[in-house]
Amino acid sequence: MPIQVLPPHVARLIAAGEVVSRPLDVVRELVDNALDAGASRIDIEVEAGGLSLIRVRDNGAGIPADAVALAPARHATSKLAPDTGAALRVTTLGFRGEALWAAAQAGELHLVTRPAAQVGAAEVTALGDEVTVRRTSAPAGTTVTVRNLFARLPARLRTQAPAAAEVRDITALVGRYVLHHPGLSWRLTVDGEARLTHAPADHRGAVASVYGPLSANRVLVVEAEGVRGVVSRPELTRARRDRMHFSVNGRPILAPPELERAVIEGFAALLPSGVAPLCVLDLSVAPEDHNPNVHPAKQVVALADLPGVAARVRAAVAGA
Ligand SMILES: Nc1ncnc2c1ncn2[C@@H]1O[C@H](COP(=O)(O)OP(=O)(O)O)[C@@H](O)[C@H]1O
Ligand SMILES: [Mg+2]
Repeated sequence: MPIQVLPPHVARLIAAGEVVSRPLDVVRELVDNALDAGASRIDIEVEAGGLSLIRVRDNGAGIPADAVALAPARHATSKLAPDTGAALRVTTLGFRGEALWAAAQAGELHLVTRPAAQVGAAEVTALGDEVTVRRTSAPAGTTVTVRNLFARLPARLRTQAPAAAEVRDITALVGRYVLHHPGLSWRLTVDGEARLTHAPADHRGAVASVYGPLSANRVLVVEAEGVRGVVSRPELTRARRDRMHFSVNGRPILAPPELERAVIEGFAALLPSGVAPLCVLDLSVAPEDHNPNVHPAKQVVALADLPGVAARVRAAVAGA
């Protein structure tokens, strides 16, 4: 095939795939937006594994009527000042201004939003680059709905996992958000049935919501400079590290092995070798000491001082 420049609409569809390659990506991006908006209640609905419908409703700041038409535009964001310095000091979960745009490219985006102090609400429909805005009435906050994901992208649709597998991963993802943001109200509804609900609590309460009261009764509080959360008592362990959860500045991350090892080392001889504890640890670092912009899903965060953070984690766990 000769070398050719892709028409912009094709280039766009490919790029959209970087942010949104499966329903789980949409859930993560919309939940990040709700958290960035300062919501205290987040409701998530999923139908048919997210391919028919994904809806995230929050009671956060909303989008002012005069800005709402821009929300689904590519690289449109309210979270980053347009200078390169700002990109090095990310303090929000979103910052690329691509999620709503990508959702509108990959599916049908519908958004209803109202800041508490504004009289009427705005309703936005976006399909590809076609954006329409209407006035409506709605409670304060934002509801974003994405329907018929990948219906216009048959190749992408064909490679999707079965709905049950996607629902399992979405449930695990929402569980991680609950664990790291236990002070909020959460609800995940799958095909009309409540899958996960959580009322505001501490980390132990979140462990109860996600893993049940038996696990919650077997955790200890970790509280140290820059490290907060819970770890299980030595009697509650698992053969795998699948319940070791970390966040950095509120963002659930795929933890580097160094951090998992630091937790296990914090137990010293209390933990039989080859087993892993349950932990939920929220790490805080200065914005300039971390970089969440290394992966489309932003789940990999580069830490400027990983050994230092690991040492803090080890000491915090040892002190629990
Ligand atoms: N749930 C929400 N509540 C308030 N504002 C929102 C919400 N979702 C999106 N927005 C607004 O729309 C903009 C674009 O969102 P998005 O495409 O996810 O990009 P980003 O989060 O990287 O800024 C955000 O910067 C924000 O101003
Ligand atoms: Mg976003």
